[in-house]
Amino acid sequence: MPTTADRQLLAELEPVAAELLNRHENAAKEWFPHDYIPYSLGRDYDKEPWSPDQSRLTGVAQIAFEVNLLTEDNLPSYHREIHEMFGHGDGAWINWVHRWTAEEGRHSIVLRDYLVVTRSLDPVQLERGRMQQVMTGYDRGDKDTLRGMAYVAFQELATRISHRNTGRFSEDAVADRIMARIAADENLHMIFYRDMLTAALRTDPSAAVKAIGAEVIGFEMPGAGMADFRTKAVQIAKAGIYDLRVHHDEVIWPLLRHWDFFGVEGLDDEAEQMRQQVSEFLTALDDMAVTYERKRAARRARALANA
Ligand SMILES: [Fe+2]
Ligand SMILES: [Fe+2]
Repeated sequence: MPTTADRQLLAELEPVAAELLNRHENAAKEWFPHDYIPYSLGRDYDKEPWSPDQSRLTGVAQIAFEVNLLTEDNLPSYHREIHEMFGHGDGAWINWVHRWTAEEGRHSIVLRDYLVVTRSLDPVQLERGRMQQVMTGYDRGDKDTLRGMAYVAFQELATRISHRNTGRFSEDAVADRIMARIAADENLHMIFYRDMLTAALRTDPSAAVKAIGAEVIGFEMPGAGMADFRTKAVQIAKAGIYDLRVHHDEVIWPLLRHWDFFGVEGLDDEAEQMRQQVSEFLTALDDMAVTYERKRAARRARALANA
């Protein structure tokens, strides 16, 4: 349950939550997973068992789809976390928690249906992966509500970009359409949290700057706990689907810019220090992204030379 301080913050932000939930409900379009699945491609697995050559997706696209689906599969944990952080009162906050959960549920439904009907991934591996992922669970650690709010703003944007780029990378029109649809949902989730943070920055700028800063420096994808995540993340990064450049340019900076993070005035010393740390962190992140870009360019040049 939220602490007293968390509850106070949520109560203070409740009118904003109501306004943003209302905006969300007007902007969100109803959609149905079954409209996105090519069922005519389906065959019975008992008559024709799965084999790797049946997949419509190539190596890295398969890995990215698997990681994205297993991430979405962990919704029971996310619901628990979101409920612990925002499950306040009987108004806008709790309504948001339930609405968000209901919308997120569609993502794993549509992804699994696509992968199983088109035989693009081993259905046994998918189910075992889901079991393992859900049993491991997801735990936000000791983050308070404000940090949790900052985390989900970055996480929804990161997930939007990751889904969108996975769809493009797949070079499969059906997959791309599914991923574009999911990414549109993630975008609306992101702007809800983004604009909650804007309100939190007005309410208590120092606390909000500290929370945002801590999340920039400590960010981890929600799927980080899955088996072989590191190896898979490296392959996804090498393919350019989600790498440090994308993270720095398309996730971290757009939100920091939106909040005018480096322009917020009237901060206490701790918040000023945090901002300094974030600035140093971003320089190091950019340097690292440049190093990887050079490595990738060299790999490409070598591959061309050997072709
Ligand atoms: Fe999602
Ligand atoms: Fe989302």
